[in-house]
Amino acid sequence: MSKAPRIDQLFSGPGARADRWRNLVESAEAWAGGSGNRAAFEAALTEMTATEEFHAYPGHKLLAVLRNSAAADDAQGAASLARRITRALLNRSFRLSAGDWETDEDAEGATADVLPPTLGRAEARRPYFEVLIVTGTPASRWPALATEWRRLRRPLDQFVYEPVIVGSFEDAFCATLLNADLAAVIIHEGFAYRSRHDAPILRSLVEAADQKQTTQASALQLAQVLKRVRPELDLYLVSNGAVEETAGDPKARAVRQVFYAVEELLELHLAILEGVQDRYETPFFDNLKKYAQRPIGTFHALPIARGKSVFKSDWIRDMGEFYGVNLFLAESSATTGGLDSMLEPTGNIKRAQEKAARALGADRAYFVTNGTSTSNKMAVQALVAPGDIVLVDRNCHKSHHYGMVLGGGQPLYVEAFPLTAYSMYGAVPLRTIKQALLNLKADGRLDRAKMLDLTNCTFDGHIYNTRRVMEECLAIKPDLIFLWDEAWFGFARFSPFLRPRTAMGAANAIEDWMQDPKSVEAYEKQQKELGSKPSDETLLKTRLIPDPRKIRLRVYQTNSTHKSMSAIRQGSMLSVKDVEFHTVEAQFKEAVFTHASTSPNQQLIASLDVSRRQMELEGYGLVHNAIEVALGIRQAVAQHPLISKYFSIVGADKMVPVEFRESGFTDYLDGKTNWATARRSLHEDEFCLDPTRMTLVCGTAGYDGTQFKGMLANRYNIQVNKTSRNSVLVQSNINNTRSDIAHLIRVLVEISSEIEERLAKGGPNVRAEFDARVKSLMTDVPDLPNFSHFHDAFRKDAGKRSNEGDMRTAFYAAYNAAGCEYIPLRDKEIDRRLKEGPDLVSASFVIPYPPGFPIMVPGQVITRETIDFMRKLDVKEIHGYDAAEGLKLVSTEALAKLAGKAPKRAA
Ligand SMILES: Cc1ncc(COP(=O)(O)O)c(C=O)c1O
Repeated sequence: MSKAPRIDQLFSGPGARADRWRNLVESAEAWAGGSGNRAAFEAALTEMTATEEFHAYPGHKLLAVLRNSAAADDAQGAASLARRITRALLNRSFRLSAGDWETDEDAEGATADVLPPTLGRAEARRPYFEVLIVTGTPASRWPALATEWRRLRRPLDQFVYEPVIVGSFEDAFCATLLNADLAAVIIHEGFAYRSRHDAPILRSLVEAADQKQTTQASALQLAQVLKRVRPELDLYLVSNGAVEETAGDPKARAVRQVFYAVEELLELHLAILEGVQDRYETPFFDNLKKYAQRPIGTFHALPIARGKSVFKSDWIRDMGEFYGVNLFLAESSATTGGLDSMLEPTGNIKRAQEKAARALGADRAYFVTNGTSTSNKMAVQALVAPGDIVLVDRNCHKSHHYGMVLGGGQPLYVEAFPLTAYSMYGAVPLRTIKQALLNLKADGRLDRAKMLDLTNCTFDGHIYNTRRVMEECLAIKPDLIFLWDEAWFGFARFSPFLRPRTAMGAANAIEDWMQDPKSVEAYEKQQKELGSKPSDETLLKTRLIPDPRKIRLRVYQTNSTHKSMSAIRQGSMLSVKDVEFHTVEAQFKEAVFTHASTSPNQQLIASLDVSRRQMELEGYGLVHNAIEVALGIRQAVAQHPLISKYFSIVGADKMVPVEFRESGFTDYLDGKTNWATARRSLHEDEFCLDPTRMTLVCGTAGYDGTQFKGMLANRYNIQVNKTSRNSVLVQSNINNTRSDIAHLIRVLVEISSEIEERLAKGGPNVRAEFDARVKSLMTDVPDLPNFSHFHDAFRKDAGKRSNEGDMRTAFYAAYNAAGCEYIPLRDKEIDRRLKEGPDLVSASFVIPYPPGFPIMVPGQVITRETIDFMRKLDVKEIHGYDAAEGLKLVSTEALAKLAGKAPKRAA
């Protein structure tokens, strides 16, 4: 029998729960078949009891029947019921089927008050959720209490829910963490602190609550802790005493409504439904559905709207049949008649955006229908004027570079740490960023530094300590703007572990910190310690505290909603938390007008609205599942004797150099890793690894990334994300199931077996060829070239100590065809010029895929390292480089002319 995963193991979620149930079934069947025994079954059941109480299903009654079957020595009965419950949990049928809740006696005709009365009926397919009730009422009263709650259900209710009752702070916290079906929590004053179960499992979970050593907690404290874990939940507080005082407490902000104990239960029931309805409502989508039902005559462009030209046609009707009629009924280019304008929203798009802002923890959010490529360009254009300096990771997405070309911002490239072995870059160390700011300060040019622009998480999964980065930068420049490109990381908002590492998660934490009087004390204490003239080295070594009175918090976050949530391709959101937004709002509108299409796609907007609904109502469980799937894949690859011979998934210990893992965290698969150690790492470490992004090394199997990606797609219908020289990136998301893990693992076994057989039967030549190929892919890896510097012609107003440049002028220099020259990459002239000069200066962006970052930008002086790297590259797709013509350079004469011109500066 396989060992069931412990619940305190990291991110053990819905899948692990199903495994424990399957284990229980195996134990019951072994007992019934004679190879096991009752004691083993009872022990397994007892171990599950504490955490099963955190779920409505199977509930006290069915669990009691299981225990009774064991006590009555009825192995068959126990096995049968355990099987039934496991099946209902696996396919989640208990949300719809009344039969799943019945005991055999109920089925024989006894009335069962435990059954949700509306479950099972065809017309009653209402969304299902669970409500956690935290109470001081003795456990013996809980079944009666649950019955009282169920009696409140009315046919009119839009949703149906089941109560889950607990009696302590610890249990409430663990239930909130483990039960993804919860949508609301009712906290009655007067509950205990300690769990009624003495389970070490719970202790380790509670450690993650970050609750100071105490054995007491008030209802408001519990509300605050739960809000931190799952901000999307509606919390209701039921007070026995002075409700007015409770409601007036600033901590009560975490609570949706405060009730007085003796008041009507029905009011609370209605409030719960209304709270869920508020998240369920999708203003744009709801209206679009209504619009599609109306008989509308269209006399504007977009003949496809209403679909008549499609469905009447002999020639294109198949498109209509393929997509279905609603696609066309819901098409319109109008912004009236109940529809709203994306460019100037005042109605349901505005309301949908406000809800998205709430869900993402932002002050405002913008829907963008041309991908995060556009969101980034909008943010760069709106916030940066020509001549402003932007500290930016050279490996960021091309939209940032192009944003600066268009807007005239001057990039000051800060280098990420390299992971040469895998031909990829990590993220930019904070020390490098601080050094760049201190250099600007030393040159007296800190006022020109407008923005820090970073990718979080990176393509390969490096997550910044967003809070620490912002705090330390704000200590040097209190009004620095932050643009965090979280194209890949939108889902992180819905995991309590990852959320603090998102831009908005950190911005909210900094905002809270600014309100705390202790923050000024901490700042002043550090200032005293640093003295009046601290050296750069001291400032680089110290974890700097900003002055909370001076900070102007300005944070922007972009998410490709289509990359990690249920939006249609190109659906993106731009979130804002900026105390100075009023000063840039007009510019922001201009940026929207510049980049947004005047014909935004209706389905896309609707899908952004619906993605928000989904994440607010089930995002927590879905993200949990995606992480669990990723850990399942990591584990299966590492443990399989054949797969692990040829393939591996790079762990956090190899993806993040040890100096950036201050907490001592090694990897998710380390046996010592649990919720608490992972939380510590996410809290303290400079960089963490997003567990859902898996670098699968295939070079050790003799395949380069592109080859392997092609093979997975063509032979096995498996699509993976980006590739590097010797790896592919496998990503799990909210769509994945455990069957996907099984498919991938089966395929890896098949490929490994083929290699094994080829090597076994091929003789020494095949072996030698394989070894040589592996060596070439794994050890003969080209060094990654750092950014060199801009040519002096583009640095006329640059500082002495920093490397920013006027990339826009360099970019437009290439528009003068006569001012450009081409030299083939392998021409000896390149080597001669590298040795003797004059400088080779790139006229364009050159971006090889993979790795996907620009190895040359316009105006950059090309060095030996860059040429060596390019010559070693064996990829076919290199944007900005035409092999037939050669490298496109700004000619020496053009450079001389440009150097002579007066520099253009921002007004
Ligand atoms: C870091 C990063 N930012 C932005 C983008 C662009 O996003 P979109 O495809 O939504 O335009 C990508 C795309 O891969 C990306 O990797």
